[in-house]
Amino acid sequence: MKIPVRNTTNWHVDSHSPDREQLKPAAERLKSGGTVAFPTETVYGLGADARRTEAVERIFEAKGRPSDNPLIVHIADRAQLAELTEPLATEAAAQLAGRLMDRFWPGPLTFVLPVKPGAVSPRVTAGLDTVAVRMPAHPVALALIAASGCPLAAPSANRSGRPSPTLASHVRDDLDGRIDGIVDGGAAGVGLESTVVEIVDGGTVRMLRPGGVTAEALREAGAEVVYDAVAAPESSSNAADAQAPRSPGMKYAHYAPQGLMQLVKGDAEAVSAWIGAQVREARKNGERTGVLAFAEHAARYDADCVLVVGSLARLDSVAHGLYASLREFDAQGIQRIWAETCPEQGIGHALMNRLAKAAGHAVIEV
Ligand code: TXA
Ligand code: MG
Repeated sequence: MKIPVRNTTNWHVDSHSPDREQLKPAAERLKSGGTVAFPTETVYGLGADARRTEAVERIFEAKGRPSDNPLIVHIADRAQLAELTEPLATEAAAQLAGRLMDRFWPGPLTFVLPVKPGAVSPRVTAGLDTVAVRMPAHPVALALIAASGCPLAAPSANRSGRPSPTLASHVRDDLDGRIDGIVDGGAAGVGLESTVVEIVDGGTVRMLRPGGVTAEALREAGAEVVYDAVAAPESSSNAADAQAPRSPGMKYAHYAPQGLMQLVKGDAEAVSAWIGAQVREARKNGERTGVLAFAEHAARYDADCVLVVGSLARLDSVAHGLYASLREFDAQGIQRIWAETCPEQGIGHALMNRLAKAAGHAVIEV
């Protein structure tokens, strides 16, 4: 779709202690209905005032996002929550939500809660009677939300279908000329989006999207965890309900690099032998080949582009670099990509979820 060309301003701010003066121009743009990208502790978000339909529409336009995919609203303090949401159905459910917020906010945990009628634009909720809310743990995000005085609707600041941005330069690559500004506060933290949950009852949450807060951490905080079908670990039989995903965004192809990608599961020796054979074959056909490997195995591969995504012993560092690696394959014009896999424990669950989506669920067991 052709959209109006915008002059995208870049603001550099101190990522640890941004001062209000530095953030003022960006906050002003948000107040007047503009779109501004900013860093969070997960990925960069593209923000706009969640209460103003014309502002929220600019987000969908800039990203090319399907309009039935609702947005997360970002807040800077708990008082804002009461302005956006209605109480949960039971006192026990409210208490569980409160406990999890105490434990994980600010942080990468998003709650889907009953929306207060009229509190946000219907474009934010895609017409649902719920709204997704989170309080990000990034000093720049918190300061910007506070300075703008707006609850900020903010999806990841990428063109729809592309990997989420973890650097301001990724945002520029995707959205320069399509948004009003980018607050550059350095690298985002976790590297994967927030975990999205809904409260089932006083003891249980349903995970709609795995992310920065792991199922193990939620259980440690006293919540039982069940999974929406698209969020369950692939290896588990706990895929609660196999109905349409409750988090509408999960049904879309996401994070996809331009090349054809496959995940290869199995014993490390077998995996590297199988990928090696595929690389030789593809090269014969004149295709540019790429492998996404763990540091422990990278030396085994001879492809046009071998990217080390991090160490199997440090899956949090893998999360941090995953999207940048997927973008790098594109930058190098790679046409065929094979990726190693990791156990679906801790952050490994969210990692495999994103990798499987990037590969369009093409998973080969060798
Ligand atoms: O880490 C993050 O969450 C990042 C940063 C910028 O905060 N944001 C982000 O937003 O990932 P987005 O729009 O890319 O993903 C929002 C997810 C989608 O899967 C969407 O379907 C789901 O949240 N969602 C939003 N509102 C919902 C609702 N009312 N019910 C169910 N799912 C909802
Ligand atoms: Mg996204």
